[in-house]
Amino acid sequence: MGKALIIGCGGVASVVIHKCCQNSEVFEEIMIASRTKSKCDALKEKLKGGKTIISTAQVDAGSVPELVALMKDFKPGICINVALPYQDLTIMEACLECKVDYVDTANYEPLDTAKFEYKWQWDYRERFEKAGITALLGSGFDPGVTGVFCAYAQKHYFDEIHYIDILDCNAGDHGYAFATNFNPEINIREVTAKGAYIENGEWVETEPMEIKRVYNFPEIGEKDMYLLHHEELESLALNIKGVKRIRFFMTFGQSYLNHLKCLENVGMTSIKPIMFEGREIVPLQFLKAVLPDPASLGPRTKGKTNIGCIVQGVKDNKPVSYYVYNVCVHEECYAEVGSQAISYTTGVPAMLGAMMVMTGKWKKPGVFNIEEFDPDPFMEALNAWGLPWKETFAPELVD
Ligand SMILES: NC(=O)c1ccc[n+]([C@@H]2O[C@H](COP(=O)([O-])OP(=O)(O)OC[C@H]3O[C@@H](n4cnc5c(N)ncnc54)[C@H](OP(=O)(O)O)[C@@H]3O)[C@@H](O)[C@H]2O)c1
Repeated sequence: MGKALIIGCGGVASVVIHKCCQNSEVFEEIMIASRTKSKCDALKEKLKGGKTIISTAQVDAGSVPELVALMKDFKPGICINVALPYQDLTIMEACLECKVDYVDTANYEPLDTAKFEYKWQWDYRERFEKAGITALLGSGFDPGVTGVFCAYAQKHYFDEIHYIDILDCNAGDHGYAFATNFNPEINIREVTAKGAYIENGEWVETEPMEIKRVYNFPEIGEKDMYLLHHEELESLALNIKGVKRIRFFMTFGQSYLNHLKCLENVGMTSIKPIMFEGREIVPLQFLKAVLPDPASLGPRTKGKTNIGCIVQGVKDNKPVSYYVYNVCVHEECYAEVGSQAISYTTGVPAMLGAMMVMTGKWKKPGVFNIEEFDPDPFMEALNAWGLPWKETFAPELVD
């Protein structure tokens, strides 16, 4: 069917690339382009022999001219951005110049400020519309599948949605005292920031990890979870009409939290540059360099993840509570694609989002969040491509 340019070759990208190669009818040809070309070449070598034609390239995704040159040469129909959130805008600029559709999994963040919001990418709406190309924002798991879950609930089970709780549980154990499951810099910026949720159209801010709940996750059991600020809250508040409150909770073990607190107390999580032996370094980037590479956690991680949404509202004037979730097993992901479940649960939806646009199911000019599209074909594809979901109308609620 078409050609996809995949930018980045880290943990998530590796899953996207494996899944594109499993889906060679849609992804006839892919180019893996990233900062370190040797990683792209190693993956190409590992996947050789399949039907999808793979090429590789070195690119600095922060440079629009480099990206444009690459796109003009390869002529992709779509670009899947699985590099880092800092590169979203340069990649979107290049897509505009070359009229290439765009998919990502995380919203733009400036490198020097730990702040994420959709404004920067939503500002591209008119230009994408005029160019006749599609940008699909946030096609990972959360954001991503969680938005599709909410759109599906809205479409099939509710007249009005009042409350949404997104619950992200990782009960996997990698055996390290401290490691992050995806890019450590992005992960630590996210969890050390203040918490926030939306109530009656307003943001309510909390101290980091201030709100804790214990939840009995299906197929996992009881875990401590903490309220975090998360990017899909912003778009869901606009796209799920009438919603009164949206919260996001993530589980963390005590060892992770103790280490993080200690690292924070000594200044290792700071993004303010400091001088070290005559050169400027950013403590958080140095920390990233000494932590285990998330891509290396695959063979060590055992256990399950459970990510889903509890939605409350009314249908035919009767109250409805609905919980839709996916359970993913770290070891099974590793056996299939050589990655742990965090990369898997992000990479599969990124491939599926690109497939939705390439097959025309989600092709429309403009910049869109995932919940703005018809959820049904994506929900079907989740079942077919490795992330089956379950639903219940009698969930335990979060107070
Ligand atoms: N929505 C979700 O559910 C979800 C969940 C997890 C992660 N994510 C997002 O997924 C993305 C990838 O995460 P990850 O864990 O795969 O990160 P990662 O392992 O650190 O991979 C990032 C990749 O991007 C490459 N890269 C970085 N800067 C670049 C540049 N200027 N030019 C070209 N390539 C560059 C890196 O190159 P090197 O190999 O040279 O370092 C690396 O290959 C992040 O944006 C993250 O926020 C989303």
